[in-house]
Amino acid sequence: MKILKKITECKSVVNNLKKKGFITGFVPTMGFLHEGHLSLIKMARKECGRVFISIFVNPTQFGPGEDFEKYPRDIKRDISLAEKGGTDYIFYPTAKEMYDTDFKTSIEVKELGSIMCGKYRPGHFAGVATVVLKLLNIVRPDKAYFGQKDYQQLVIIKRMVDDLNLDVEIIGGPTIRENDGLALSSRNKYLSVEERKNAIILYECLNMAKDMIKKGEKGLEEIRKTIMTDLEKNRFVKKVDYFDFRDPGTLEHVKRVDNDSKNILAATAVWIGRTRLIDNMIIKV
Ligand code: PAJ
Repeated sequence: MKILKKITECKSVVNNLKKKGFITGFVPTMGFLHEGHLSLIKMARKECGRVFISIFVNPTQFGPGEDFEKYPRDIKRDISLAEKGGTDYIFYPTAKEMYDTDFKTSIEVKELGSIMCGKYRPGHFAGVATVVLKLLNIVRPDKAYFGQKDYQQLVIIKRMVDDLNLDVEIIGGPTIRENDGLALSSRNKYLSVEERKNAIILYECLNMAKDMIKKGEKGLEEIRKTIMTDLEKNRFVKKVDYFDFRDPGTLEHVKRVDNDSKNILAATAVWIGRTRLIDNMIIKV
């Protein structure tokens, strides 16, 4: 496995692999790798001749007062996990390498970037889309892998790739969870023991929504209100940013289960103490 810190170095490796006819797969990450990241690396390993990952805590996707400085980092551990997972190349640039002092561009995926998490984290998805576009231009992969854990991010990246005619196939991987259901996230490290126990409330309320829909409840607005009340009752829940039912393709609100409804996305963002956690579930109707 090779670690590439410079954009020119990465581009030249990519050029050589392309000349040799390798199919390349790419998993962008912010590091502090866990089984969620590794599941995407394994998917890439199965489908591609060469596997790239990037480790870059992207400053432009963090808002003022968010956790950019304290975001967990452990490059030694990441290198070892990435290698065991089957990575061939880690692109590991500095912020200066990625953002020159006169950097001016921002990619805005309109509407999709300002709803759900975007409403509570203004500018976040522009930061994500811009860095992902840069990374895709540097690595030029045939396939790039993103987790469904960050469902809105996946939809936004797919939209950007279609809108800008990028030659890459975007592949979504399933959410990997702890045994009790908590979705793996680098941010779970922030939770105290008690908060960690209570953090399963996100998964529980998604399941509750699923059960109510499976039982034949049609009014999603009523289900939403019941679940919001339930979440807000938990003393470890500091704030619920949202619990929404959305169309999994367009992310538009869905208010009722109709006869022609197929899949419904239930998605939530909840503050457990000082940690903001997100989770979602596709509910088949
Ligand atoms: P990061 O949070 O490190 O996640 C990297 C990739 O791993 C994302 O595609 C994310 O959806 C996926 N992932 C995280 N937790 C997962 C889980 N429990 N199961 C399955 N996949 C999971 O997302 C980012 O970084 C950044 O926004 C990035 C795309 C790298 C741009 O900076």
